[in-house]
Amino acid sequence: MRKPYIYGNWKMNLDMHGSSDLISSILSVKIDYTKVDVGVAPDFSSLYKVSQTIKQMGYPISVAAQNISAEEKGAFTGDVSAAMVFAAGADSTILGHSERRMIFAEGDELINQKVKTALRNNLDVILCVGETLDERESGVAADRVVYQVGMGLKDIGMDRINRVTLAYEPVWAIGTGKTATPADAEDIHGKIRTQLSKMYGPVVAEKIRILYGGSVKPDNVSALMMRENIDGALVGGASLDATSFAKLVNFNG
Ligand code: 13P
Repeated sequence: MRKPYIYGNWKMNLDMHGSSDLISSILSVKIDYTKVDVGVAPDFSSLYKVSQTIKQMGYPISVAAQNISAEEKGAFTGDVSAAMVFAAGADSTILGHSERRMIFAEGDELINQKVKTALRNNLDVILCVGETLDERESGVAADRVVYQVGMGLKDIGMDRINRVTLAYEPVWAIGTGKTATPADAEDIHGKIRTQLSKMYGPVVAEKIRILYGGSVKPDNVSALMMRENIDGALVGGASLDATSFAKLVNFNG
């Protein structure tokens, strides 16, 4: 049985003051951390503040960077390294988010490099995959997603795969109010797990969590979470408000 995992991706919406206020509100919510894993991904400039606030309260909330450089260090103006975000208090990083793929032209090989860099530097990884509307309409959604999983995890061995969480985020469902139906999402999640099983065997594949992302809200989270292969949610908009994030985290009661 995989423990549900609800992760808030705050994107580029809050400065360190707003992030600090939001994490304080989330920390004041009653959450049974034995039943659900919770995480937040603030912007780089808020990582330290957010992770310190969580540490002071002693709650087991994961903190992720939203991206890292593929490089270890050096003359890469504007980039932020895995070691830097780790030092700032992050335990994880999101990688391959569709906004990175589409707006910043990150390809599968670069994302694979980043996955390796993250794992080498003690960061767990939330690897995002997902098809565009064109790909869905032309019937290649599953192929595209399975390809992204294979490429993103290339050369990641059995010794490290337990530190990776997958997130299926159909591009057409992000920030649009359109959610994949639970059945559509489950179909792709099942195919992702089959691919993981091919790569790592069924026992390991059964343990890897696959989150769904794309317009997840308090009113649709339960139906998604009921599906066998949907193990959690990676949430954008609805994670920016503590009340709605609390409802997502407490989807089970
Ligand atoms: P929304 O929940 O705003 O659609 O964003 C989803 C997402 O991109 C999370 O990473």
